[in-house]
Amino acid sequence: MLDDLRRELEALAARGRKRSLRVISARRGPWVKVEGRWLLNLSSNDYLGLSTEISSERILAVLEEFGSGAGAARLLSGNHLYYAELEETLQELYGRPALVFSSGYLANLGVLSGLCSRKDVIFADKLVHASLIDGLRLSGATFFRYPHRDLSALEDLLRKHRGRYRRAIILTESIFSMDGDFPDLPALVELKRRYEALLVVDEAHAVGVFGERGLGLAEEMGVLSEIDVLIGTFGKALGSYGAFVVAEEVVRAYLINRARAFIFTTALPPVVVAASLVGLREAAASSRRRKKVRDLARAFRESLGKTSGGLADQVPILPVIVGGDRETLALSERLFAAGFLAPAIRPPTVPEGTARLRLSLSASMEWEDLRPLVEILRESCD
Ligand SMILES: Cc1ncc(COP(=O)(O)O)c(C=O)c1O
Repeated sequence: MLDDLRRELEALAARGRKRSLRVISARRGPWVKVEGRWLLNLSSNDYLGLSTEISSERILAVLEEFGSGAGAARLLSGNHLYYAELEETLQELYGRPALVFSSGYLANLGVLSGLCSRKDVIFADKLVHASLIDGLRLSGATFFRYPHRDLSALEDLLRKHRGRYRRAIILTESIFSMDGDFPDLPALVELKRRYEALLVVDEAHAVGVFGERGLGLAEEMGVLSEIDVLIGTFGKALGSYGAFVVAEEVVRAYLINRARAFIFTTALPPVVVAASLVGLREAAASSRRRKKVRDLARAFRESLGKTSGGLADQVPILPVIVGGDRETLALSERLFAAGFLAPAIRPPTVPEGTARLRLSLSASMEWEDLRPLVEILRESCD
């Protein structure tokens, strides 16, 4: 059996698809030390640069008071007071109840498999994150995947199939993690109303970056109160770890009772939840950092001649689609040699033939840091 596993790994390596772990031995702002060299990290989702800024004194005090582990699931004895404080703060910001999950992956599994079962239907954008795909599969619901951001194709599917099912969910990301683009959220709100569906939006890559208070793209587009279930994570722009779901009280109570990914896992350590609270407050107040990372994104696109106007230029995720796996690996290695960490993203993370570098920017970077990268990309991608 082990030989079988070995052969499979060798086949992956032969196709340029084998994944392996790289050790980060030190971090300083957007810089990481790898194999003894400091590199600018273009592969983190720390868009506001908060992950290295949350004060250790505060965290040490929590560690002393509450210890390092929660010791049990939230429904047993793991529901420490930092959860209550974090959920209250989320409710104040979003204007609706919130439920904290142990990670974005678990939140997505929990929401979809908790809310849906065999009698239900889920209409999902073709490019939604793997955690949402796993959630919809686990739910047992029938699902249809519409072409990326194609809302007329979605409407065709809704018209044809919605009537045969009990509950229906329209599922999308707001900022798509691998492409940095986004759907027309107000138009999705119209569709969910017309076809009596719940609109579930994963805002993992928009929280902190979009919206006046960094609540996400729905806030930016003025439809926050229309998103039935909004999922955000603490592990990206908020600089910590974990995730949250914002929804009506009845949905929150239902998830506490039905979402197995919420029920059957150990609660987050108090230090982590306390750090999330600091990150959330910091991000809500950080319009300066938000502006900085969005300006950097626009300048970066301008210098590559890739602007399309408006909000799209301000997304701090820039895909450089190369196509082939080996060519993408070669570009990634070239950047590595020049002092940039930008791992190759290959299928199945992205569709066949669209291997890419996914460059993500942070408010902790300076334009001067990025300039040499622009030069290399200009040369390589022409
Ligand atoms: C769109 C999206 N949703 C959910 C997740 C999972 O979140 P977490 O890392 O907190 O498990 C990720 C990435 O990690 C993501 O990109």
